[in-house]
Order: sequence, then structure tokens, then C-alpha cells
Amino acid sequence: MSLRFTLAITGASGSAFGVALLRRLSANPAVEHIALLLSSTGKRCLYDETGLTPKDLAALPKVGLRDERDLGADISSGSYRHDGMAIVPCSAGALGRIASGVSESLVSRAADVCLKERRPLVLCLRETPLNRIHLENMLRVHDAGAVVMPIMPGFYSGPKSLDDLFDTFTTRVLDQLGLSESDPRRWKG
Ligand SMILES: Cc1cc2nc3c(=O)[nH]c(=O)nc-3n(C[C@H](O)[C@H](O)[C@H](O)COP(=O)(O)O)c2cc1C
Repeated sequence: MSLRFTLAITGASGSAFGVALLRRLSANPAVEHIALLLSSTGKRCLYDETGLTPKDLAALPKVGLRDERDLGADISSGSYRHDGMAIVPCSAGALGRIASGVSESLVSRAADVCLKERRPLVLCLRETPLNRIHLENMLRVHDAGAVVMPIMPGFYSGPKSLDDLFDTFTTRVLDQLGLSESDPRRWKG
């Protein structure tokens, strides 16, 4: 298998979840390439919360950084073949732009392309509390084919560390991308 995925990190708290997903995609032998893009506030939140820069993330194997202002990038086109996109974390602003079909940045354009091409699109929203606009936008993108997966890790596996929480959650995101990995934290009944 040689799978390609797109991962966007937008300007919401919880960029460490996006980093954890990126590391797992990068380490998965079935994955050939990960197109990574960050919104400008996404870069700021990433640095504030993890001390990492986009360059640090791009140093991981198989990761190719895209400029979110470059609407001519490969992932802007439906003809670019890939196997799904996740936005982790997804800001309420990014959700709103996707729900309205506003494709003014590469993040919203690449997401829009996933919906029109019927490719997996997983939006890991991070905002609380939620107002009516957020709730309506979640329903709109759901009805258009996206998976709305707020950053709400499960606790039934007894996480002992933040890494355990990241793993619990990213296992479920990988499932949604069609890339199920074995994980001892899965519920066995
Ligand atoms: C430090 C910081 C934390 C933020 N956290 C959130 C958040 O958790 N959720 C959210 O929806 N917006 C959050 N925002 C606001 C968004 O970054 C802002 O609405 C931005 O326009 C989103 O644009 P983007 O989707 O292009 O990153 C935060 C902003 C800053 C500066």
C-alpha cells in the first residue's frame, strides 16, 4: 500500500493532538506521503503549546509542508490523488469556512475538494462551549460528508499520561481515515 494523507493544523488549542497524529502517520509503513499545512494562527498555537515550528514537523519522514496561502498547491486540485484529510485541531473559524464553502485558504480549499471528491474528511473541532453557529456548521459539514470528531479523548482505557490520551484519540482518527492500527487501548468488553 502507498497511501497519501493531508493533515492541517489550524488555530485552536490542542495542536499536540495534530502532532501526535502526524507522528503516527509518518511511522506507518503503509503511508507514503503526508501533505502538512498550518494556518497562520495554527503556527502560533503550535509554537505556544508545544515549542515546535512547522520546520520541526516537516523534518519527520514522509512529511511535505505546503504553504497555506498557496492556492496553486497540489492538494488544491481534485486531480491530486490522496486518501483523506484530517484537520487537527480544527478551529471554529475553519469549520465555519468549510461549512460555507469559502475556499480562500489552502486549508479550506483542500477540505472543500475532499467533500466534492467524496474523500474522507475528519474535522477535530476544538472549541467550548459551542454556540448555535458552531452546532449548525457541524451539521452542515456532516451532511456534506465530513466526519465531525471533536477533540474528546476517551478515558475508559485508563490513560496515565498525555501521550496515552493522544494515542487513544489518534487511534480513532486513524480509524476514520481507513488506517486502523492495533491498539491495546481498544475496548475489549
Ligand atoms: C492562543 C489562541 C488559542 C485559540 N484557541 C482556539 C480554540 O481552541 N478554538 C477555536 O475555535 N479558536 C481558537 N482561537 C481563535 C482562532 O485561532 C481564530 O478564530 C482564527 O481566526 C482561526 O483561523 P484558522 O482556522 O485559519 O487558524 C485561538 C486563538 C489563539 C491566538
